[in-house]
Amino acid sequence: MNANQYLESNKQRFLDELLELLRIPSVSADSNHNEDTKRCAEAVKQALLEAGCDKAEICKTKGHPVVLAEKIIDPKLPTVLTYGHYDVQPPDPLNLWTSGPFDPVVKDGNIYARGACDDKGQVFMHVKALECMVKTNSLPCNVKFIIEGEEEVGSANLDKFLKANKEKLAADIVLVSDTSMISMENPSIETGLRGLTYMEVEVTGPNRDLHSGVYGGAVANPITILAKMIASLHDKNNKVKVSGFYRDVVEMTAAERKELNNAPFNLDEYKKDLNIQEVWGEDGYTTLERTGIRPTLELNGIWGGYTGEGAKTVLPSKAYAKISMRLVPNQKSKKIAKQFEKHFMKIAPPYVTVKVTELHGGEAAVTPTDSAAYKAAAKAIETTFGKKPIPTRGGGSIPIVALFEKVLGIKTVLMGFGLDSDNIHSPNEKFGLFNFYKGIETIPHFYKNYSETKKS
Ligand code: BES
Ligand code: MN
Ligand code: MN
Repeated sequence: MNANQYLESNKQRFLDELLELLRIPSVSADSNHNEDTKRCAEAVKQALLEAGCDKAEICKTKGHPVVLAEKIIDPKLPTVLTYGHYDVQPPDPLNLWTSGPFDPVVKDGNIYARGACDDKGQVFMHVKALECMVKTNSLPCNVKFIIEGEEEVGSANLDKFLKANKEKLAADIVLVSDTSMISMENPSIETGLRGLTYMEVEVTGPNRDLHSGVYGGAVANPITILAKMIASLHDKNNKVKVSGFYRDVVEMTAAERKELNNAPFNLDEYKKDLNIQEVWGEDGYTTLERTGIRPTLELNGIWGGYTGEGAKTVLPSKAYAKISMRLVPNQKSKKIAKQFEKHFMKIAPPYVTVKVTELHGGEAAVTPTDSAAYKAAAKAIETTFGKKPIPTRGGGSIPIVALFEKVLGIKTVLMGFGLDSDNIHSPNEKFGLFNFYKGIETIPHFYKNYSETKKS
C-alpha cells in the first residue's frame, strides 16, 4: 500500500479526528480559554505520537505552550521542520455563525468551525500525512514539528523559544501550511508574507465624562479629535501619511510587477464576492499589488463614549483605536512603530493628550523560488493538482517565518491549502474537504521530492 492508498482507506477517520480537535476552543487571546488551550496542546501532542513520532513534548513558555515532536529515521538524511499553530482567533461575533464555532459541521463539502482552515485543519493535514508515510514505510527523511499556541496573538514568546532550542529545532527546511491558494483550479504557492506593526492609541480630552449639553461645543470631544487624526493618516491618493513610512520600501521592478499581475484575478468577481461597488487603495497600484507588495495602514477597531443600548448624552473623556500596519521587505517593524508614535503625537492638537502603545509586530519574509525546497513543493502540487502552481505574494503575516531564518538560519516553504474565501478570522470559517484531503495527498510528494534533490 502507498501513502495515497492509505489515505483513501482512512478518510472518514481522519476527518472525525480533525473534528475532535476543532471542538477545543483554543482561543489564545482570551485567558478564559487558557485551560482549553492547554488541552489542545495535549491533543496535538497525542495526535503526533499516534501518527508515528518517536518523541513529542509540551514546552512551557511565558504564554501558551509549544508542542515539539520528531521522528528521526537516519541523522544523515535531510530534516523537514513543519510549523503550524493550534491556537485560533476569537469566534466573535457569535450571532453571525450559522453553526457553533466549536461545533464543527460538514456541509456542502466544507468543514465549518473556527480553526478549520487557520490553522488546525492545515496542521492536521501534516499529522495525517506523516501517519500515511509511516504506516506505509515511505517516510523518506527526518521530520520535526513545532506547533505553537500564540500565533494569533503575535508569537511574542517564540523568538526566545527558538533561541533556547536551536539544537532541537535544527533542520534543513521549514514547511508551513498556513496560507492560501488562488483556487483549486489555479493552485499557487505564496512566496512572501508581509510584516506587521500593531499599535493602540488612547486620546484623552477632559479628565472625566461630561454632560454633552453642559460642556459640549466648549470642550473638545476626544472621539471627534481621534476621528480627525485617523482621517489624516491617508492622503487623497490613499498613501499612508506617517512620516517616513515608505522610506525603506524597495520598489519592485517592472518585470516583477508584471509577473505578479499575471496571476489569475477577476476584479468583478472580487467586488461581487464582497458586495462592494469599487475597490479602494493606494493610487498607481493594482489590487494584487496593494495586498501583496505594498505597505498599508488599517483601523482594526475604534471605540469610546457610550455604545450600549439606547441614547446617552455624553462627552466622553477618552477615545481609543487599534491601528495596524502591514509591512513589506526591508521595512522594520520596530522602526515603523517609533515613526508612528512620533507622527501620532505630532498631529495631536493641544485639546487632548495622547498615549500610543505598541501591541506586537513582526518582519516581512520572502521565500526563494529557485530553491530545491520550492521546486519540491511546486512539483508535488503539479503531481496532485495536475497543474503547475503559480507563485504569488500573500497579504497576511506569519512573524515566525522571518525568525526561522534570522535565529535558526532556515528558509521556509509556504505550502498552504486554504482559500481567501475560507472566512478565516471571520464568522463561518471553513475548510474544503477537497483541500484537506488534497493537502494530505500532496505533502508526502513534497517529502519525496525534497529528499531526492538533497541526495543528488
Ligand atoms: N494564517 C494567517 C496568516 C495568513 C493568512 C497568511 C492568509 C497568508 C494568507 C495567520 O494565522 C494570521 O492570521 N496572522 C496574523 C498575524 C498575527 C501576528 C496576528 C495576520 O496576518 O493578521
Ligand atoms: Mn494562521
Ligand atoms: Mn490567523
